[in-house]
Amino acid sequence: MDFNTEVALVTGAGRGIGLAVAEKLGNLGAAVVLADQDLTGAEAGALAIEGAGGRATALAMDVRRAEDWQEVVAEAVRRYGPLSVLVNNAGFDRPGGVAKLDRCDFEAVLEVHLTSCLLGMQTVLPVFAQAGQGAIVNVSSVYAKIGGQGEAAYSAAKAGMVGLTKSAAREMARQGVRVNCVLPGLTNTPAIRAMMSEKIKAKLLAETPLRRMAQPGEIANVIAFLASSEASFVTGAAWEVSGGWNM
Ligand SMILES: NC(=O)c1ccc[n+]([C@@H]2O[C@H](COP(=O)([O-])OP(=O)(O)OC[C@H]3O[C@@H](n4cnc5c(N)ncnc54)[C@H](O)[C@@H]3O)[C@@H](O)[C@H]2O)c1
Repeated sequence: MDFNTEVALVTGAGRGIGLAVAEKLGNLGAAVVLADQDLTGAEAGALAIEGAGGRATALAMDVRRAEDWQEVVAEAVRRYGPLSVLVNNAGFDRPGGVAKLDRCDFEAVLEVHLTSCLLGMQTVLPVFAQAGQGAIVNVSSVYAKIGGQGEAAYSAAKAGMVGLTKSAAREMARQGVRVNCVLPGLTNTPAIRAMMSEKIKAKLLAETPLRRMAQPGEIANVIAFLASSEASFVTGAAWEVSGGWNM
């Protein structure tokens, strides 16, 4: 995979899967913008990429804000030229089951995962359309397909991202833009380490044929492939990267 002529924007790139994606694309030659609401991790990531000989910039961004999308995309283009890859990865969780889920929590989760994904695609489309090419990878979850007990908002948001991905793939194909999503299984990131009990982790791993969590780099590898010209005939795909969970 060769990203030497590519300019990539990765959201939620301050840690976890987003940071691994930024590092992967940077190491493959892309100029990378690491966008996150928490700039500390994104700045460290950008320095690491530059230290390895790559090109990277950290920018503060709240993916819920349309103005932030406009500013970050404009800044990426100003620094590196036409943006060609977008990875919609930023995310968070407010657990809760259907019966008692608070409406505000439900809408907050939808806003970060689903509405922000729409905003991102709407912002980059004119840039991609003008260049006649571009690749978008949206980070969904296996829960999009199987649901999660006590994870109603998150599962709904992630399922919504799959529908949004497929609609965008159909609509944007004529402009030379490919849109795909990945559905990770349990992945060893700060979010999971902070919020998931050992008991629940053990239960989920028992349902995972490979019997372990993914490392963030294993998710990043698939995202990089889908964003690369090696995947030039792949669009509208929802690719599970789950160790066999949900076969
Ligand atoms: N870790 C897993 O097991 C797993 C499994 C399936 C899907 N996912 C998805 O992968 C993505 C990354 O997950 P992770 O585990 O690396 O999470 P993480 O919490 O470790 O990292 C998420 C990053 O997103 C940033 N972020 C959150 N809200 C933001 C906002 N409004 N604007 C800008 N940045 C924001 C955070 O600051 C953080 O740096 C998420 O979309 C998550 O739902 C993760």
